[in-house]
Amino acid sequence: MIQKKVNNKNYEKNIIVQFICFSFTEKTRKLSAILNSSSKKHHVNIGSYQLNSNVILAPMAGITDKPFRQLCCRLGAGMAVSEMLSSNPKVWKSGKSMLRMEHGDEAGIRSVQIAGSDPQEMAFAAKVNAENGAQIIDINMGCPAKKVNKKLAGSALLKAPEQVEQIVKSVVAAVEIPVTLKIRTGWCENTRNGIEIAKIAEANGIQALAVHGRTRNDFYKGNAEYDTIKSIKSAVSIPVIANGDITSGEKARQVLDYTNADAIMIGRAAQGRPWIFREINHFLKTGEHLAPPKVEEVRAILMAHVQELHKFYGDFMGARIARKHVSWYLQTHDQGKQFRSIFNALELPAEQLDALNIFFDNLT
Ligand SMILES: Cc1cc2nc3c(=O)[nH]c(=O)nc-3n(C[C@H](O)[C@H](O)[C@H](O)COP(=O)(O)O)c2cc1C
Repeated sequence: MIQKKVNNKNYEKNIIVQFICFSFTEKTRKLSAILNSSSKKHHVNIGSYQLNSNVILAPMAGITDKPFRQLCCRLGAGMAVSEMLSSNPKVWKSGKSMLRMEHGDEAGIRSVQIAGSDPQEMAFAAKVNAENGAQIIDINMGCPAKKVNKKLAGSALLKAPEQVEQIVKSVVAAVEIPVTLKIRTGWCENTRNGIEIAKIAEANGIQALAVHGRTRNDFYKGNAEYDTIKSIKSAVSIPVIANGDITSGEKARQVLDYTNADAIMIGRAAQGRPWIFREINHFLKTGEHLAPPKVEEVRAILMAHVQELHKFYGDFMGARIARKHVSWYLQTHDQGKQFRSIFNALELPAEQLDALNIFFDNLT
């Protein structure tokens, strides 16, 4: 009997100790999140533009079109970078490029990415896009695609630092607006020259540098590494934006703390999940997770997104482009797989909207 009482007492004591420890670690975690967020509460400036969040949508060809950029900015992205545009004027007349070059009436900071290898051509492309409404020009030196690299554009430029210097000089001189640069950590494991490129960028007027924590030879394999981003950040004074595999508030916090970067960039994790920006903003500010959106909100966001795609691209292209987005939005739903195969056979915008309505009616 006495033994039982003693055991009970010990048990209660244990629970109290555990509770105190839990509350303590929980409070410390929140406190550290708040302290971190207040020590870094200044949002990053790019030239004269101040971002209202340090979480940026990464440029993704075929994905970060105007409807998607607008949606991500509305849901908390501090900036959304356009899909890359070739600097070769011969291709600008194609329907795809014309849509990519449309950035007049867009809300948020309009950052337009250009890709190419010829300094004069890049300067001209920057000028034309600035005249068309770009507020920031971003230079692509991160694309790993063979088609792009064989013309010494995208990440292939990392192998030619003198060419990097010429391009940067020429683009910066051509426009009044800020010019930013996006790179990988280097061409391959043995030539990780991100620091050298970052110094060239800074010395020649680049106003912010985004770094994807992989080399070109990594493509998208393995995990992004943040050591090089951390070294780059400590080697230059311009804002550094860390990128690669950031998929949650915790990861965002870890990457910011580890690299000391000024901002982060989110690519694939925003596909079908544009609300990730408000989730990460919330976590960075409070150290707490925001509840995921309810089905009704997902439905409203998705329907509006699909309608915007139809409007922006027209019925034929719009319906086709909507397919991949819908598939990303629904990938976490059990019924999504079966629905997607039906949805992907639909050709008309109205059919797509009806099908989505039926899908969500059955979910709720
Ligand atoms: C489909 C796709 C298209 C991309 N297009 C571009 C592009 O046009 N310009 C660019 O600089 N990076 C491009 N990227 C790279 C992303 O901007 C980003 O650096 C990369 O996806 C790593 O970030 P994440 O892990 O958050 O996705 C693309 C990536 C993907 C997946």
